[in-house]
Amino acid sequence: MVKICCIGAGYVGGPTMAVIALKCPHIEVAVVDISVPRINAWNSDQLPIYEPGLEDIVKQCRGQNLFFSTDVEKHVREADIVFVSVNTPTKTTGLGAGKAADLTYWESAARMIADVSASDKIVVEKSTVPVKTAEAIEKILMHNSKGIKFQILSNPEFLAEGTAIADLFNPDRVLIGGRETPEGFKAVQTLKEVYANWVPEDQIITTNLWSAELSKLAANAFLAQRISSVNAMSALCESTGADVTQVAYAVGTDSRIGPKFLNASVGFGGSCFQKDILNLVYICQCNGLPEVAEYWKQVIKINDYQKNRFVNRIVSSMFNTVSNKKVAILGFAFKKDTGDTRETPAIDVCKGLLGDKAQISIYDPQVTEEQIQRDLAMKKFDWDHPLHLQPMSPTTVKQVSVKWDAYEATKDAHAVCVLTEWDEFKSLDYQKIFDNMQKPAFIFDGRNVLNVDKLREIGFIVYSIGKPLDAWLKDMPAFV
Ligand code: NAD
Ligand code: UGA
Repeated sequence: MVKICCIGAGYVGGPTMAVIALKCPHIEVAVVDISVPRINAWNSDQLPIYEPGLEDIVKQCRGQNLFFSTDVEKHVREADIVFVSVNTPTKTTGLGAGKAADLTYWESAARMIADVSASDKIVVEKSTVPVKTAEAIEKILMHNSKGIKFQILSNPEFLAEGTAIADLFNPDRVLIGGRETPEGFKAVQTLKEVYANWVPEDQIITTNLWSAELSKLAANAFLAQRISSVNAMSALCESTGADVTQVAYAVGTDSRIGPKFLNASVGFGGSCFQKDILNLVYICQCNGLPEVAEYWKQVIKINDYQKNRFVNRIVSSMFNTVSNKKVAILGFAFKKDTGDTRETPAIDVCKGLLGDKAQISIYDPQVTEEQIQRDLAMKKFDWDHPLHLQPMSPTTVKQVSVKWDAYEATKDAHAVCVLTEWDEFKSLDYQKIFDNMQKPAFIFDGRNVLNVDKLREIGFIVYSIGKPLDAWLKDMPAFV
């Protein structure tokens, strides 16, 4: 039986390995992690991540051909193929701080693989890494290998959170990069055979190592760039009376452009877009390409601009101050159908409002109070490091309360902000919410999911990203 071990039981390692186990009953899959609570959760009824469809698969395969363990060394030693899916956060200190990828976790995984291995192995980069990382990993493995042969492959993951299982079942493509040597081709073929159990062969793309590594960064940069492009347009729409939804539709019907990923928003979040673009910018700088670096940096700048613009719009509409006013936040996760809050725009919006001394009351169907308080207490980039490196007992942000019900969160509020597009926010009883709010009652829809006409009929003053402005808002322009 082929044995696969995946180092890193996170948002990528957990779901990808669960799907491999489901689709390949003849393969034994072990997912290992240094985090005891995380592995305990994978072995319990309360999985550590929320992802539609995941629980069913884990229940079906766990204990059969899918195992979660903290015995990292044992499973690595026994495996034929080792996936490495550890976190690759942005460096917070030292050379390249705030831009470069921190490969500490990757390097320690590679050293451990070299240390414990007793047979040849294929080592697969699943984490998103800077182009040329495989070369560094190869050096670490070769110099410590005691004669054991390792083949390094790059097999970046393209799943999106909230749709991870559907994305893994029907990927647009699977990308495998390897060395262009007979051993390299053989290793690529071995991994290809794993995916071929459910992915049509013509959708499994094989390339050289560097193309695979760079394609992942490029894909995320292109996706984020579309959002920043439509968000840049949203600002112009508000100034001109155009409607960003109509503009995006008109633009997206051009088959060369396509309709996806053109939803204007309060800004993109998530653990990867910003990190990967910063990483790309750093690589361009290191390769003497400052113009290319500047080009991609703008994608991040527009994203920051969009979040600032949203906060300024709230404050300026509410008579230029939110001091001591209750602002209800509906949605804290970085997108719907996930409890993940990494780099969620809600953090920046809440911090902006707290900076103006607002009292904020937050409701998200999947995010815990502990997580929200930790996010609001943390410094930028600290979130992607292990818990023991994060503030131990975050000082509770006194101006923040977390509720388990949207009606409770909005009670007596001066304003409501929708920051995540959870479906349930579309069908709330907004008349009831309005009746229980201070007047004038404001709604700021950062996801364009609400029925603006209906809200205006009820009596709300409504702001929707990139949509024609209420007379009220026109008189109170937001300056960044
Ligand atoms: P994550 O933080 O959820 O999981 C990483 C896990 O690795 C953690 O549980 C951590 O404890 C573990 N780990 C770190 N060092 C270890 C070591 N030496 N030995 C054993 N375990 C170790 O991260 P994630 O979201 O799964 O992302 C992993 C990688 O995949 C990143 O490079 C990310 O850029 C990339 N990626 C993420 C997504 C996504 O949607 N989250 C999608 C595609 C690619
Ligand atoms: C993204 C990519 O879509 C995946 O292909 C990639 O594998 C992954 O990053 C990664 O490398 O981590 P993810 O961040 O999970 O996936 O979610 P997305 O659906 O891409 O959304 C990212 C952010 O953009 C969210 O905050 C979302 O609300 C926002 N967004 C998305 C918009 O504001 N407008 C859109 O039109 C689409």
